[in-house]
Amino acid sequence: MQKIIVAIDGYSACGKSTTAKAVAARLGYSYIDTGAMYRAVTLYFCEHYVSLTNVREVEAALRSIKIHFSYNPALGKSETYLNGLNVEHEIRKMYISAKVSDVSALPQVRREMVQQQQRMGQKKGIVMDGRDIGTFVFPAAELKIFMTADLMVRARRRQLELSEREEYVELDEILDNLKTRDRIDTTRAENPLTQAADAYVLDTTHITTEEQVDFVVNLAQSRMIDVNPANGNQSANV
Ligand code: DC
Repeated sequence: MQKIIVAIDGYSACGKSTTAKAVAARLGYSYIDTGAMYRAVTLYFCEHYVSLTNVREVEAALRSIKIHFSYNPALGKSETYLNGLNVEHEIRKMYISAKVSDVSALPQVRREMVQQQQRMGQKKGIVMDGRDIGTFVFPAAELKIFMTADLMVRARRRQLELSEREEYVELDEILDNLKTRDRIDTTRAENPLTQAADAYVLDTTHITTEEQVDFVVNLAQSRMIDVNPANGNQSANV
């Protein structure tokens, strides 16, 4: 069966990563969390006091950053590495969430990350989630999903995730962070978050993770049939 690219975009804390990870596992595809890449860059910038207004400093820093993902069989999930160090836990902390949208709005950062993401998807068979996957990274992806959810529901989910990692944050702080990130992510000049014209909208406010995953897997399976020449139908349009 010919492999496809599943692009999942949407607002922060809508359940993109959880859904994308589970969809990838069901399809036997690789999962790429592009938010983790921007978070790893942000961590490096914080640790090395990189000035976001100094283009040379930003470019030099980007040349020193190597990000990769490695599957941890004990946890059954892939983890993010920055220059050989496992940073999976650190990049999820609130101080990174507070800075990541400013870092990811920088054109130099976007160009570098988008190139790396496009290389990762060359052989297809991937589920990639982020903000610009269906619109800029893979505009010809066979399946595009745009995820959204009520702001309060997203904030409560994020608070629960953080508390599971033993970081206790007030709901108001999370609400402010989500609102600010939504604003920066949707209004930045380079690759802002927008819904692709051919994306399916998935509102997760009132549905379970299992229902979200089923929705995407069913669509992916029908796209795979559509692009498989053995079926006499090579249409790849959604
Ligand atoms: O998905 P996340 O919350 O971990 O993403 C963190 C930030 O990274 C998000 O606020 C915006 C940025 N991001 C981006 O600009 N483009 C992507 N493809 C993925 C994430």
